[in-house]
Amino acid sequence: MWHFRLWEVQDVAVFLSITLYMCHLAGAISIHSPQRSLTRSVQEDVFFSLDVSCIGIPTIQWTFMSGAVSRTIGIWQPGVYTNITVDYSSRVQTFNNGSMGLSDLRLQDAGYYVVTVTEAAGSSKDAGFVLKVNEVLYEDLQYLSVSALALACLTGLLMLATWLLDKAYRKIVAWRRRKQMPANDATELQPL
Ligand SMILES: *[C@@H]1O[C@H](CO)[C@@H](O)[C@H](O)[C@H]1NC(C)=O
Ligand SMILES: *[C@@H]1O[C@H](CO)[C@@H](O)[C@H](O)[C@H]1NC(C)=O
Repeated sequence: MWHFRLWEVQDVAVFLSITLYMCHLAGAISIHSPQRSLTRSVQEDVFFSLDVSCIGIPTIQWTFMSGAVSRTIGIWQPGVYTNITVDYSSRVQTFNNGSMGLSDLRLQDAGYYVVTVTEAAGSSKDAGFVLKVNEVLYEDLQYLSVSALALACLTGLLMLATWLLDKAYRKIVAWRRRKQMPANDATELQPL
C-alpha cells in the first residue's frame, strides 16, 4: 500500500515537470515594448518599437484594426523573407527585432496595431499598440500668421503716425511762441 502511494507521488512529479516544461516553451516568446500608446499628426512618421525574443527565428505579423476593419500589414522572418501588403509597401519599414515604422501618416491610420510573434515550434504571442492621429489645421496656422503680420504692420504705422504728430505739434508750438515773442525766440525755442 505504501509502495503504491509512493509511485503515485512520482507520477504526479513527472506530470508536473512536463507541465512546467510545456509552460516554459509556451512562455519562451517575450515581447518587450517601451510604449504601447502613441499620438502623432497627419504626415508624421510613427515607430512601433519592440524587441522580440524566442527560440529560433520568429515570424512577425502586423495587423491593423479599426472598427470593423482588420487588415494584414505584413509578415516577415528576420533575415529570411519580408512580405508587406501592397497598400503599405511604400510606407512600412521592418526591423529584425519586430519593430515597424510607418511613415506619412493619414487620419485613417488611427486605430489598433497588433503584432503576432510565432516561433518555429508553433506557439505564438500577441501585443497591441494604439495609435492616435491628429489633424493639422494648416489653414488656421496660415490665417494666424497673416493676422499677426497685419497687426505688426498696423502697430508700426500707428507708432509712425504718433511720432509725426508729436513732431508737428512741437513745431507748431515753437513757431507760435516765436511769433508771439520775436525778441526772445532764441531762448524759448524748444528742442525737437
Ligand atoms: C528595435 O530595433 C530598432 C532598430 O535597430 C531600434 O531603434 C529599437 O530601439 C529597437 N527596439 C527595442 C525595444 O529595443
Ligand atoms: C505574400 O503575401 C501574399 C498575401 O498574403 C501571398 O499571396 C504571397 O504568396 C506572399 N509572398 C511571399 C513571398 O510569402
